[in-house]
Amino acid sequence: MIRNKLLLFSSLLALLVVFSCNYQEQEKNSSPVTRQLSESQYNEKYRPQIHFSPDSMWMNDPNGMVYYDGEYHLFYQYYPEDIVWGPMHWGHAISTDLVRWEHLPIALYPDEHGYIFSGSAVVDHNNTSGLGTEEQPPMVAIFTYHDAEAADKGSIDYQTQGIAYSLDRGRNWTKYDQNPVLPNPGLRDFRDPKVMWYPREEMWIMSLAAGDHIRFYSSPDLIHWDFEGEFGSNAGAHGGVWECPDLFPLMVGSVKKWVLLVSINPGGPFGGSATQYFIGQFNGKTFVNDNSDSAILWLDHGRDNYAGVTYSNIPEKDGRRIFIGWMSNWDYGQEVPTKRWRSAMTIPRTLELKNTEEGIRLFSRPVIELETLRKDTTRLNIGLIPENQNITIPLEIPCEIDLQFTTNGNHPEADSRFGLSLFNAMGEQMTIGFRPAEQEFYTDRRSSSKRVFNEGFESVQYARFNPEDGQIEMRLYIDVSSVELFAGDGEVVMTDLFFPVEEYDSLTFFSQDTEAILQKGILYSLQPIW
Ligand code: FRU
Repeated sequence: MIRNKLLLFSSLLALLVVFSCNYQEQEKNSSPVTRQLSESQYNEKYRPQIHFSPDSMWMNDPNGMVYYDGEYHLFYQYYPEDIVWGPMHWGHAISTDLVRWEHLPIALYPDEHGYIFSGSAVVDHNNTSGLGTEEQPPMVAIFTYHDAEAADKGSIDYQTQGIAYSLDRGRNWTKYDQNPVLPNPGLRDFRDPKVMWYPREEMWIMSLAAGDHIRFYSSPDLIHWDFEGEFGSNAGAHGGVWECPDLFPLMVGSVKKWVLLVSINPGGPFGGSATQYFIGQFNGKTFVNDNSDSAILWLDHGRDNYAGVTYSNIPEKDGRRIFIGWMSNWDYGQEVPTKRWRSAMTIPRTLELKNTEEGIRLFSRPVIELETLRKDTTRLNIGLIPENQNITIPLEIPCEIDLQFTTNGNHPEADSRFGLSLFNAMGEQMTIGFRPAEQEFYTDRRSSSKRVFNEGFESVQYARFNPEDGQIEMRLYIDVSSVELFAGDGEVVMTDLFFPVEEYDSLTFFSQDTEAILQKGILYSLQPIW
């Protein structure tokens, strides 16, 4: 009897040992296994060709975007075991040009404090943290720990902030041994730290999402944090929880303003998740909104740009504010019909503030480095698109299309519209256009695929735009399963996914109940980034 018990015990022990060895093996091996892919795997159905995507498995938010020593780091919310969300890690990739990426091993694994949720990274040049030396400044990642077990048990303080550092250009990471550095003050949602150096006070400032508002903390050393103030419970959109803030200064002419990005899920203008922004002042303690509390400003009017934030430590002589977002939406992100991986990032964009008739607005433009992907150039000498007629040309994806339209007539009919549709022989089509009477751009993916994987996916999105000089400019980046529209010099941005059964291979210019003139059109075929 005793022997049997012992046997049972020892076989259980053996099982446990095998299991934990396997687990460790898996941990160690999962990244190399997922990284070594043959070229053909980057030609899988729906695989983006000019956008960053993980080589396999699930990805959501971009994290820890930081520039250091010639490299742009892109970390990201990653679950290496499945193509749906799960215990979060930080995946890692680097680029020297923001366009072509190299996959690196997973940077941060979950530990006894929880999963590794979203956050940021900075280069601590003055070694304020003491985690490196001045000669060898540490790269410090600041992230949220999500204690899933505590959450399951019904506690509310299961999110805390932790840090990790690297002394070898982001290749190897050590978790700080006294994590968490910012405990939970009793708030259910308490996450996504975005940290910046604030020269005026010679302090680090952390913006943190806390349910329906943003909290600001300061620290001399990235380790000890003091609460300074909060913003937003009464301002902007509140249709869902606030997440992934980013606070940064931008000039408008010679005036310095502060921009606060806040992602919200759900409650986006077209359903699901979206990113809003505020313009105002930051006084070291809190954000002071220039606009009324009821004003809502959206960063992107498409459905697929979420949780985006900007790069830290971009050199002063470059001076750009570079943004990348998760090109998906929590409404359907886990259901999109890709097989071995899920999700991609938006193309990187430069953010700028400009004066418009409605006030100061945030403009987004594709980073200039994307021009290095241009391969063949086709000039489209199309001119007049006669009323209710189509002009069709072959489409090669990926491509960039730069268009400049004007319309005839000052009194357009209510439903007149013009623009372009991507389509194929199956009749699947994705349309991007402008409606002069309503003065709005729109993207229409109601017929983008014969295969419906999520009812709510089939939608039309709108973005108001007043073309002062009657010129309608559109710059489009078209990839295998996405389109990004930049219009009005970046005032209007629309990012939308599509998943046709067959790849689109034709492009039609159309003009409905109006006559549009395509004054200029250039089509660039693009080299894949992989
Ligand atoms: C945003 C988000 C963050 C969180 C992360 C978890 O998409 O919900 O608030 O840190 O995703 O993966």
